[in-house]
This record gives sequence, structure tokens and C-alpha cells, in this order.
Amino acid sequence: MQTIFSGIQPSGTLTLGNYLGAMKQFVDLQRDKDCYFCIVDEHAITVPQDRLKLRDNIRSLAALYIASGIDPEKATLFIQSEVAAHTQLGWMLQTQSYIGELERMTQFKDKSAGKEAVSSALLTYPPLMAADILLYQTDIVPVGNDQKQHIELTRDLAERFNRKFNDIFTIPDSQISEVGARIMSLQEPTKKMSKSDENQKATVLMLDEPKRIEKKIKSAVTDSEGVVRFDPENKPGISNLMTILASCTNQSLESIEAQYEGVGYGGFKQDVANAVINVLEPIQTRYYEIYKSDELDDILDYGAEKAEKVASKTLRKAKKAMGLGRVKKKR
Ligand code: TYM
Repeated sequence: MQTIFSGIQPSGTLTLGNYLGAMKQFVDLQRDKDCYFCIVDEHAITVPQDRLKLRDNIRSLAALYIASGIDPEKATLFIQSEVAAHTQLGWMLQTQSYIGELERMTQFKDKSAGKEAVSSALLTYPPLMAADILLYQTDIVPVGNDQKQHIELTRDLAERFNRKFNDIFTIPDSQISEVGARIMSLQEPTKKMSKSDENQKATVLMLDEPKRIEKKIKSAVTDSEGVVRFDPENKPGISNLMTILASCTNQSLESIEAQYEGVGYGGFKQDVANAVINVLEPIQTRYYEIYKSDELDDILDYGAEKAEKVASKTLRKAKKAMGLGRVKKKR
């Protein structure tokens, strides 16, 4: 059976982009794959975090995973910092990473641009991400488009390690959905929709109330052509809304184009808003039921235990291959 691993940072309420680009895929994969889904809190601290908010965001993300349809009987859901092997292998892989290749990562460039004090962990973030993936001998990593470069680096690091030390790691592939891999900002549709956008109107959050979702989508930036046509270069706003509609309703872009021939942007936007609300409202209801429950703690305890077993086995092999620690004699 193939193994799947993916992670999401608990750094604020998830966006519709996180859902359509990543989480939605996770739910389908758990049916016939061995899945590990992680709340990557150690990645979140590469930028400053408020301690109490971080705690809250971790729990909130765990509840969102479950509310979105992750079934703890099928998939392993856990918190990264509760499985020590992640940072341990992360460090070992850091020793095999070159500063030059880390500096070339787009996410590092974006997050460090114009900042005076940048934590060194922002630079060494990808080897930790590689460790997350490689500890589980992962075959496939479902992610949005912006993580593709990190998965390519993970493959390079795994191949480098296997060649130099011993053939320990499975080489993973990324899986990026055809539609929805890059949901754009509603206000600047040439920029990706992001949790950290300062303009609140740019981002639909998974926990936004229906009225708010409707308002945000209705005020999305479009163009003056008045034709619903997929053309990301010349019509980025309308193309983004079409992608959102296609992804929420599992319709093709072609059938949306045909359906809205002669229909103005007003009616189209209303339908996009309704489609998003139809997807998010049931998730929100379940979220509020589970967020404070003890059941959520049981799920996370169980997940950490299961993840720990698999991760520590890979870690042991990697340490041995690198010559760390002692060879224990039988006594
Ligand atoms: P993060 O937390 O930024 O995003 C989580 C997932 O959501 C996807 N995503 C999007 N997809 C479509 N459109 C968007 N606008 C959009 N914004 C975000 C991301 O591609 C991602 O799949 N480094 C990772 C977390 C991570 C990880 C891992 C992922 C740590 N270890 C191991 C996979 C495997 C990150 O910051 O994702």
C-alpha cells in the first residue's frame, strides 16, 4: 500500500486555498492509502508566534482536519512536536543541505525579503520538512503548487543521503491537483491566497461566516469584459473564481464557461459564493462540535503514538547509517 504524508502549519485560520489545494485531496486519499497528516507546529515557529495563539491554532487545525473528513481510523493525525524524531532527523538532514540550495527556495526569499532579523530556522526549514516526509517512507506528498520546490529538495536530500550513507529513504513524489493547486487572492489575483495577507477581503477563511464569505466573493476583483472565460493571464480574477467554483463543485472549467455564457458577473459571483458556503458550512458545524471535545485529544494521542513507532524505526536506521551513537552490544 502506498504511503502518503502531508502537513499544514498552524499559523492562523486556514484559508480556502489550504482547503482546496491540500485538505480536500487528503480526504480522498485516505480511502486506500496509508496516510499521515501532520500539524507542523515546529515549522510555524520559524516566524514569531504568540504562545497562546499558537496553542489555540494547533487545536483548531486538528479539529479542522477532522471536520473536513479525515477519519482517525483510516489516517494517522498527529502534532509534529509530539514526535521527537522529526527534529532529530531534521538536524541530520541539515548537515547534508547546502546553504546555496536553501537560499534559492522561493518561500525563504518571500518570507525573508526586506526583513532585518530573519531566524536561521527560516532558512533551514526545508530539511525539517524533508525529515517529516522521509521518516514515514512516503511515496506521495499531496500539496498545493507553492510546496513543489520543497518536495524537489526533499528528493535531492533523500537521494544524496542514500548515495552517501545507505539506501534508507523512499524517494517521494509530489501530487498536485489539476484544479485548485493555486487559489489566488480575491483582491490581487496574481498573488496566491495566503493566511498572512493583511487585506482581510483578499482571503476566505475556512471559519468565515456564510455572510462574510458572500461579501468577500462579491467584492472580488474582476475585469470589465463581462465574459466568464478561463484566461489566467488576461483575466486572473474571473479565472480564479472559476477555479474556486470548479473545485467546490467538481465541475470542469469548460462546463462552467458554457453554463455562464451570457450571464453577468453578478449572478456568477453569487453562484461561486453559494458553492463555497455549501462546502464550508458543514465543515464549520462539525468543527465547533469537535474543537473542545476530549475525543480530539484521544485522536491526537493515538496518532502521536502510531507516528512515533514508524518514525523512530526510520530514525534508528538513519542514525546507524551516519555513525551516530553506539552500536549496542548484546549482553
Ligand atoms: P502551508 O501550511 O503554508 O499550507 C498547507 C497546504 O496548503 C497549500 N496551500 C495552497 N493551495 C492552493 N492555493 C493556495 N493559495 C494555497 N496556500 C496554501 C500548500 O501548498 C500546502 O499543501 N511547508 C508546508 C507545510 C509542511 C509540509 C511538510 C507539507 C511541513 N512539512 C511535509 C507537506 C509535507 C507549508 O508551509 O504549508
